Amino acid sequence: MSSLDDLKTRAHELRERLEGQLASASDPGALQAVRDRFLGRKAGEITALFKDLGKLAAEARKEAGEALNQLKEFGEARIGDAEASLARRLRESRLSSERIDVTLPGRARPAGGKHPLTLVREEVEDVFIGMGFDIFDGPEVDDDFHCFEALNMPADHPARDMQDTFYLEGLPPRLLRTHTSTGQIRSMLANEDPPGVRVLCPGRVFRRDDDITHSPMFHQFEGLVVNEGITLGDLMGTLEAFIHALFGKEYPVRFRPSYFPYTEPSVEVDMGCSTCKGRRTGCRVCKQTGWVEILGSGMVHPAVFESVNARLGKVVYDPRKVSGFAFGTGIERVAMIKYGISDIRLFYESDVRFLEQFS
Ligand code: DAH
Repeated sequence: MSSLDDLKTRAHELRERLEGQLASASDPGALQAVRDRFLGRKAGEITALFKDLGKLAAEARKEAGEALNQLKEFGEARIGDAEASLARRLRESRLSSERIDVTLPGRARPAGGKHPLTLVREEVEDVFIGMGFDIFDGPEVDDDFHCFEALNMPADHPARDMQDTFYLEGLPPRLLRTHTSTGQIRSMLANEDPPGVRVLCPGRVFRRDDDITHSPMFHQFEGLVVNEGITLGDLMGTLEAFIHALFGKEYPVRFRPSYFPYTEPSVEVDMGCSTCKGRRTGCRVCKQTGWVEILGSGMVHPAVFESVNARLGKVVYDPRKVSGFAFGTGIERVAMIKYGISDIRLFYESDVRFLEQFS
């Protein structure tokens, strides 16, 4: 049987050894090892002493228990202190070795810029907002009514052939809009203050087209002005002002008769070629004519007003009282003319060498 003295001696000896080992434990791993060795739940040496308590005579147990508890508390406190001071030292050395020199010059990050198509869209919007237009947004997924039918292009109309598009499965039938002219119909239907309308509808459109001047996805803007007494003169003045604002007053503008199902009369708008500017001798861009086509336009066809009235269930836009003009074109087309770009695919390749020229 162990004696009380014997236990005390061992406790004393453990305490000395613990001190010694703590003094030389200089990293977290070594400290953890000391903790395990002395206080570990299963194999700790102090823990083991407690198991010997039972071997003592009953009268000695209380005193021995107190001595062991003191030893255990002492161990916990010393190891805890050592851990805390080691953590403090590690933190201090990290702080001093990882110090940031705030006087170093910063690293410049290249700033992004707006895409040329965004720049042109915003510029076009600004010009028309300046003329009192509202920006009107419509869905890219639309239907046959808004894209064709209401624009005087019934199912068998040959003009549909030029605007082959993508149809979505399901009912009711949906399609990717082929032009922003859908905005004409939608803005008239949504108008809260009829019959006056003055909107610009920019947006993304889709067609089954793909070559160096056509892309299956591209951007357009559509304009519509409706009211009593709107004339072809308003159309001409507005579009000339637009072209001069965007390109400069030095460009001549001309209007040619054309055909669109939703306008009558229809007009194609040309401006002096910006590539062979001044010389007027013609170049490859204008196919030797000195002119480039910039917009399609015309006076709103009465059939368009009738379709909207029919959908509204009442005569809101009486073709005998109101008239209007509409126009539309590709934002890519305007950007290509403005910046002298000959390949439409450059807009979609995200090549920084191309894009950074605009910022
Ligand atoms: N929607 C035509 C197109 O996509 C452009 C256009 C032509 C719009 C004449 C018009 C217009 O409003 O009057 O090619």
